[in-house]
Amino acid sequence: MRTPIIAGNWKLNKTIDEALAFAQDLKPALSKAANVEIILAPPFTALSVLAEALNNSSVLLAGQNCYPAQGAFTGEISPRLLRDAGCVAVIVGHSERRQLFGETGEFINRKVKAVLEEGLRVILCIGETLQERKDNQTFKILEEQLRKGLAGIDGTSMARLVVAYEPVWAIGTGQTASSGQAQEAHRFIRDFLATHFEQAVADSTRIIYGGSVTPENIDGLMAQPDIDGALVGGASLQSASFIQIARFGRV
Ligand code: PGA
Repeated sequence: MRTPIIAGNWKLNKTIDEALAFAQDLKPALSKAANVEIILAPPFTALSVLAEALNNSSVLLAGQNCYPAQGAFTGEISPRLLRDAGCVAVIVGHSERRQLFGETGEFINRKVKAVLEEGLRVILCIGETLQERKDNQTFKILEEQLRKGLAGIDGTSMARLVVAYEPVWAIGTGQTASSGQAQEAHRFIRDFLATHFEQAVADSTRIIYGGSVTPENIDGLMAQPDIDGALVGGASLQSASFIQIARFGRV
């Protein structure tokens, strides 16, 4: 009942030409990735050309970040402008935003609300650091980030929200969480959603995993009952590996 999502987060990579070349590779490969939602989060500069290049394909576009307002905010981008550029979703609360740009849970919550108000979907990223895991704080951190990120959000809006569990220690390190570790965290997140909202919301919300996902480990992750997809960084930069990941479960 939960359609899997494979999302590529290009971060601060790819020129417009590189993005277009990727789209040309991706389009013909898609018919073979049935029943999967494919989302790309390119840099802002490539959004509108990609929207045109991927027109008539099933690939959806997401922004990597946004500012929760319009107006005199030099250098920022709003959900409204992201929608205008062809996005259907926005990644919010990525650990790089939290760690490198000091984003707080409250600020992330404002973004979640602004994105939902614009009619877009949210990919809300949460995850613990290595130290927090070592200190047995993982569930406490996940709960705190969920509580803050989802404050004031009602169960109906949750139909447009995807949670991405991204352990910080697994991002860009080549050290993926084991399928068991990821499943355990996803189960915890789903149980939280059942308590915070209701069981139906927990059952229908997609919870995707991110952190060193590759063509080699995607099948093991997707075999877990509570893992509904992946948010892929490094391995989404090459079309061949991203396509392989999108075709998970097949040889
Ligand atoms: P990675 O990044 O796949 O390169 O670990 C994932 C992410 O940051 O979303």
